[in-house]
Amino acid sequence: MGTVGDGVRSVRVSVVVEVDHLHKAYGDVVAVDDVSMQVEQGEIFGLLGPNGAGKTTTVECAEGLRQPDGGRIRVLGLDPTRQARELRQRIGCQLQEAALPDRIKVWEALDLFAAFAPKRIDWHTALDQWGLKDKQRAAFGSLSGGQQQRLFVALALVNQPEVVFLDELTQGLDPAARRVAWDLVRAVRDRGATVVLVTHFMDEAQQLCDRVAVVYRGRVAAVDTPQGLIQRYGGGVRVVFSSAPDRDLGWLKQTPHVTAVARQGPRVEVAGDGPVLAHVGAALIAHGMEPTDLRLEQPTLEDVFLNITRRTE
Ligand SMILES: Nc1ncnc2c1ncn2[C@@H]1O[C@H](COP(=O)(O)OP(=O)(O)O)[C@@H](O)[C@H]1O
Ligand SMILES: [Mg+2]
Repeated sequence: MGTVGDGVRSVRVSVVVEVDHLHKAYGDVVAVDDVSMQVEQGEIFGLLGPNGAGKTTTVECAEGLRQPDGGRIRVLGLDPTRQARELRQRIGCQLQEAALPDRIKVWEALDLFAAFAPKRIDWHTALDQWGLKDKQRAAFGSLSGGQQQRLFVALALVNQPEVVFLDELTQGLDPAARRVAWDLVRAVRDRGATVVLVTHFMDEAQQLCDRVAVVYRGRVAAVDTPQGLIQRYGGGVRVVFSSAPDRDLGWLKQTPHVTAVARQGPRVEVAGDGPVLAHVGAALIAHGMEPTDLRLEQPTLEDVFLNITRRTE
């Protein structure tokens, strides 16, 4: 238990996953250089970063599947290396590269996983929630990629874990299935579980996570709520419109509240602050331009990511 206070009131938070200076290499390849993070009870915590950033290695160390070379990890107060058996009963793991025998039936897999759980669990609910009811008797090998993915999540939840690790949850799911999966993850959290979500999808992290750690080259580059990250690293609003690529827009830079102008083909992107939209609009009209697509764009996690990585290059 720890205490975070803003000076006026303080809230007790319980840290369920604690990673301090984790280091892990595979031979010459440093997968995780130096990762520290704290996941609080009841949150959806995202690990966001490009392929190869070290996200999977970090969670596999926390799950007790890999042994760290350095640093310290506690999950639910347990040491994942020395107390792996105890931990396994209280966490759920959906692995990025999971596999089951092709001929095992969906219900058999669920029944098998449920048998390892300390409490007796009815897996029919999980089957229903993840849209696999009519696949109950299907062989694993006959399922589509998306159905296999949903089965792995159902398997991760079958022991009603206190902490669930989901690694690239929506990989291979179509847009509709992704949204269903997001709702289910929220439902898992609402029932009291803590969720650690690994993803390289910016929109997924922005939609789903309470807090996000941006992982880049084996390190945590920033941690905050998606909104907090956007405020700190997003780079402010942009006014965007289309124009013929050869049209001279040099005067835009002199417009009040404009800080920068970037052009890519017909797309013009104007960075600025405060009432920049009104000023750009007025300046455009004054120069005989009336673009029909003039709009204000808010920064997203994508911008956060680009700004953070640019700074690290
Ligand atoms: N079993 C392994 N053996 C050797 N290198 C590995 C292994 N697993 C991962 N790596 C390397 O470690 C780095 C981090 O990988 P990973 O943790 O899977 O990152 P992410 O999940 O962010 O894509 C990558 O360069 C990857 O190629
Ligand atoms: Mg990965």
